[in-house]
Amino acid sequence: MPLHSLTQFPRLELLGAPTPLEFLPRFSDFLGREIYIKRDDVTPVAMGGNKLRKLEFLAAAALQEGADTLITAGAIQSNHVRQTAAVAAKLGLHCVALLENPLGTVAENYLSNGNRLLLDLFNAQVEMCAALSDPQAQLTDLATRVEAQGFRPYVIPVGGSSPLGAMGYVESAQEIARQCEGAVSLSSVVVASGSAGTHAGLAVGLEQLMPDVELIGVTVSRTVEEQLPKVVQLQQAVARELALNASAEIRLWDDYFAPGYGVPNEAGTEAVRLLARLEGILLDPVYTGKAMAGLIDGISRKRFRDEGPILFVHTGGAPALFAYHPHV
Ligand SMILES: Cc1ncc(COP(=O)(O)O)c(C=O)c1O
Repeated sequence: MPLHSLTQFPRLELLGAPTPLEFLPRFSDFLGREIYIKRDDVTPVAMGGNKLRKLEFLAAAALQEGADTLITAGAIQSNHVRQTAAVAAKLGLHCVALLENPLGTVAENYLSNGNRLLLDLFNAQVEMCAALSDPQAQLTDLATRVEAQGFRPYVIPVGGSSPLGAMGYVESAQEIARQCEGAVSLSSVVVASGSAGTHAGLAVGLEQLMPDVELIGVTVSRTVEEQLPKVVQLQQAVARELALNASAEIRLWDDYFAPGYGVPNEAGTEAVRLLARLEGILLDPVYTGKAMAGLIDGISRKRFRDEGPILFVHTGGAPALFAYHPHV
């Protein structure tokens, strides 16, 4: 059942086709559990990732408003900023990126390799700040300055996680439902939960289309108490925009992100190595490695609702592997 209300929003075709949904035979054997993966790491712009789905809606809105510049913010190694810069380049727009160094590191690879290297290739204009302590206000201030220089900026929030951006993950839930129909009866879906648009969009879409599936968000930067209101607020806003009811409980696991956002940990690093060795698939140390560590631990601790098939939503991030070398 397609969600017709989704079609009311203008949308750019950045993906062109559904991303693959694959069975992971060797990883499933290793865990003794059927594991599938949604390959949003291979969306077809600039090394892929989940933000392309959000940008289909956000960049369309920017063009509709007559913008000539995309403005956004994130960490030096933000995948979101890299994908925004690439989309701006593809559309012939300027991109201005406000970056912070959340680790306070001076490691050369973190400062100039991985996603940061790609920002230069996409010709993004980078401005550094001490900290993104109030990102919305900082982005508004930046937009005012960019406007004073004669540009027409469109501000994309951190992670692209506005209700409009999260529509991309309602769309992803539609793809998942279609790809599973008659093929696999999923019990649970696991996804990294950061700025929350991916999680909230999936929550709304899956509640409509696969109501029996349990959705788990593995936090990458916050405790459950901090993350829950963010996800719920976006879930409700997305549902309102689509004239839907959202009453699915938001489930979060916060045991896998320590010691903090962007700092690799042992279990996350081990998950990166496992998927590379067993399946030739690249996770990342900041988001998907930690989310996969949650999936692995969740199976061994019987945290999932039952023992049925699990889908891992791979949201991308592999360019950061080069930035974190030699620590991963
Ligand atoms: C690779 C990767 N996975 C997951 C996420 C989290 O998605 P969201 O910010 O929508 O919660 C991000 C966000 O930047 C990301 O880059």
